[in-house]
Amino acid sequence: MRTLQRTFAIIKPDAVKKDHQGEIISLILKNGFDIIGMKMLHITKKQAEGFYAVHSARPFFDSLTTFMSSGPIVVLALEKQGDAIGGWRKLMGATNPANAEEGTIRKKYAESIEHNAVHGSDAEDTARFELSYFFAGYELK
Ligand code: CMP
Repeated sequence: MRTLQRTFAIIKPDAVKKDHQGEIISLILKNGFDIIGMKMLHITKKQAEGFYAVHSARPFFDSLTTFMSSGPIVVLALEKQGDAIGGWRKLMGATNPANAEEGTIRKKYAESIEHNAVHGSDAEDTARFELSYFFAGYELK
């Protein structure tokens, strides 16, 4: 039986700065995702650190959280029949745009492994945490 799955996405500051958010949202819709929540935010470094806490020991943590708080982002709650998490990761392409396949969002819009245009949850438990980090219960039906 096919069931609805939710995932969480961010259009990062590099892509918003270059006005790519419209094209990325259009790709999300064309690929069969329903957008069940969306907002534009400018988060603080502390908020970025809370979101990426799992990466706090990584050498790129300070730079990543500075970048993520450097300008507006668009956060999205996505829903799709079947594998929404895997489907969104496939549409994004590899984390490092140098390895991203043709036709993926990162191949088209990412500048570097850090300034890589979009984020997506990597598993069901991270999707739950990330959705609840940016959307209150009453904002998603
Ligand atoms: P994202 O999918 O948002 O998850 C964690 C982010 O850390 C990742 O995308 C990249 O933007 C960033 N990242 C991962 N690896 C590196 C790296 N080696 N150097 C800099 N940033 C990285």
